[in-house]
Amino acid sequence: MEQITEKKKVILSCIQPTGTPTLGNYLGALKNWKALEEDFFSYFAVADLHAITVKQEPKELKERILRTYALLMAIGLDPEKSTLFIQSHVPAHSQLAWLLSCSTQFGELSRMTQFKDKSKAHPENINAGLFTYPVLMAADILLYQPDFVPVGEDQRQHLELARDIAGRFNGNYGNVFKIPEAYIGKHGARVMSLANPEKKMSKSDANTNSFISILDEPNIIMKKFKRAVTDSEAKVRYAEGKDGINNLMGIYSCTTGKSFEQIEDEFAGKGYGDFKVAVAESVIAELEPVQQKFKDLMQDRAYLKECYRTGAEKAQRMSARTLAKAQKKMGFIVD
Ligand code: TRP
Repeated sequence: MEQITEKKKVILSCIQPTGTPTLGNYLGALKNWKALEEDFFSYFAVADLHAITVKQEPKELKERILRTYALLMAIGLDPEKSTLFIQSHVPAHSQLAWLLSCSTQFGELSRMTQFKDKSKAHPENINAGLFTYPVLMAADILLYQPDFVPVGEDQRQHLELARDIAGRFNGNYGNVFKIPEAYIGKHGARVMSLANPEKKMSKSDANTNSFISILDEPNIIMKKFKRAVTDSEAKVRYAEGKDGINNLMGIYSCTTGKSFEQIEDEFAGKGYGDFKVAVAESVIAELEPVQQKFKDLMQDRAYLKECYRTGAEKAQRMSARTLAKAQKKMGFIVD
């Protein structure tokens, strides 16, 4: 007899293949993806088409795409459980993006804060792709009819736009797209810069001591934590005005599962030196299996290829169905 099981909700997220993720990306987002995989029907992709809104060196881009894909597997995502794929392998993303762009207003795209920031930062390359990027992101999402999309603060506005576009399309042509919700996970840590703990940890920071890359060697991780900016109180406690220590406590709490009170007790009477070493060791232990798996995967390119090809096939099946529905509703000849 067939068992009646509740249908799993669908979740989707993507990561750009630009630079190695930081400890902040890991503790704040990627580590949660692994947990989500258990409870949801999930799609995770390397958003390589998004990367070319800024100039890329072709050889480097290729390597980064592969590394980012391997990293998704290294953090524990299972290509048998989830659909793990590379965006450019699935043509429906580009195809739907064009259809959706005709349901998106110039004014809406002009209001995207990321576009405004990026065009200010790179006035020499304000290309059309940089402007229409949120439409491609809407296509990435809407093709898979997800219930939830885990996104960071910086992508909230883009997800909101995807919802607006979907609602407008459905209103104009008939129901095609599910309107997805932002997924607010368990308290994903907001990890701050080690050099300037008032700022978020960022991989594009010019000061490499300010961030931990998830592939940093143990001795580098130790060195960076030892240099982390703290304060002059020399007491491990969570309090306003102690941004550096608060940040280290947040990280330590994430890696060990200990509460702030437990951490304060553990380091009562000890100095920042001891605390920093303990935080660094916990981070090294947390990242060690990820780094090991990453190294192994990068040495087995045939296996990686098998995984991303299978992922592309699965993604292709679902996305082609949604694309055809949208085309049909719009009046294109699909049969
Ligand atoms: N734009 C996202 C970022 O820069 C990456 C991304 C592309 C994405 N498509 C997506 C995230 C779809 C969630 C869903 O981080």
